[in-house]
Amino acid sequence: LATPLHTTERDLAAPAAPCDRLPCHKSSVCSRSYFVVVMVFFHVYIINVILLLFYVHYNSGQEDANRSRDAPSSNHQRPESRRPPSKPEFLRDVSLTRIEGIRVGHVQKVSLVPGKVHEMRTLSMKPLLFEIPGFLSDDECRVVMQLAQLKGLIESQLMVQDGQEELAKELNLSPEEIFNLLDINQDGQLQLHEVYILTHSRVRDGIWLTPENLREIYAGLKADKDGNGLLSLEEFRLLSNDAFQRFLLQRGVKRSQLVRNSRHTWLYQGKGAHQALQDIKTKVTRLTRLPPVLVDLSEPLQVVRYDEGGHYHAHHDSGPVYPETACTHTRLAANTSTPFETSCRYITVLFYLNSVEGGGETAFPVADNRTYDEVSLIQNDVDLLDTRRNCDKSNLRVKPTKGTAVFWYNYLSDGRGWVGEQDEYALHGGCVVTHGTKWVANKWINIDPDYQRQAHYQQLVAQQSEDEDDALDFNYQNQKQDW
Ligand code: OGA
Ligand code: CA
Ligand code: FE2
Repeated sequence: LATPLHTTERDLAAPAAPCDRLPCHKSSVCSRSYFVVVMVFFHVYIINVILLLFYVHYNSGQEDANRSRDAPSSNHQRPESRRPPSKPEFLRDVSLTRIEGIRVGHVQKVSLVPGKVHEMRTLSMKPLLFEIPGFLSDDECRVVMQLAQLKGLIESQLMVQDGQEELAKELNLSPEEIFNLLDINQDGQLQLHEVYILTHSRVRDGIWLTPENLREIYAGLKADKDGNGLLSLEEFRLLSNDAFQRFLLQRGVKRSQLVRNSRHTWLYQGKGAHQALQDIKTKVTRLTRLPPVLVDLSEPLQVVRYDEGGHYHAHHDSGPVYPETACTHTRLAANTSTPFETSCRYITVLFYLNSVEGGGETAFPVADNRTYDEVSLIQNDVDLLDTRRNCDKSNLRVKPTKGTAVFWYNYLSDGRGWVGEQDEYALHGGCVVTHGTKWVANKWINIDPDYQRQAHYQQLVAQQSEDEDDALDFNYQNQKQDW
């Protein structure tokens, strides 16, 4: 507003003469300065009104677009077409529906199967999180668990990786460099909470350390020589990766000390899959109101089993997106090789396949927090990411109930109908199962935040399946001739 204000003042400076002719005091209401102030306020007010009108106009335009997108039969198949759509065209035609949360506790009706209405309750706004009781029938829950057993579940995380030493070598940082990165307040000493960050980094790859573990390791390695609970650079050097690793191996790592203690398998949901699995996929498409092609091209259904004592510490299902990061699902379609790769899971739909006797809630430690700040997740020896200990301190917990589905967005909107930044509030984990077994399934919907890459990927897949169809036709023709 600075520029128009200046102009106004200058414009007003010239016709000040009339006041001179009027019999009025400098301090009275018709003084020149009073007039100038009033006029400035008046102009600022007008400019504000104009800006507000522009804002309202622009926003309602977007909402209209959203609403028309929500209408049935507008499932956008455009990215499947051969011709690469230009950026603006792509954005105009394919826009992702985002379900509105309205407010926590808001209930909306959703139609997922003909002749039945489900209720969807908003559990949090940050992340945008919903709960749908009875999403899966008892039969569907049973079939999914049975199919998973038939296929066989594998450990979600291996105990101690063989590649550990390689990983350590690959990490091209000197102890000084690591020390400097960890010393957040730059006081030349590492406080316990600073070292603790190390436990969530690749250096500790997969092993979860509590503050007590860390103290034990300090003590075992005699790293904190002067025993003041702080590590100097000299002391930190002794805590070299090798020593750390050897100490852990020697002491032994229990399953409960891993980031994740569960078993899982994957179930294909495409053509030819068990009808229950295809039905679930259809319901997910209707629930999320996304173009079916996006659901079709997503990861298979992941089925997870936690035995008693199982857990999954708080994590993000998707990685943050930086320009140099590619999504795993579109990687093949990306024509440049990018140094980093991450899962791009726009939505997580989590199904509870059974009701758990004790524990096993899904915790969202920072849901609807006023602010998000990584450092305050670990304070006074309380690590909010630790779902074996601190689930009771999570802002939100969902109790596993057979057939219930919860779903949330792992990314924000970019405001133009596509995927935006990662939603940090989507942090979640599985609390320790205290009694019984817990079965869940995850349906992740993969979308590349880079819409060009997503579109390109979809074109490639469409092209390939067409080629396959051609090949089938060709075989069929040949066979007919043989007959
Ligand atoms: C997951 C997950 C939560 C739970 O599998 O990614 O976060 O409650 N699960 O099991
Ligand atoms: Ca410090
Ligand atoms: Fe998860």
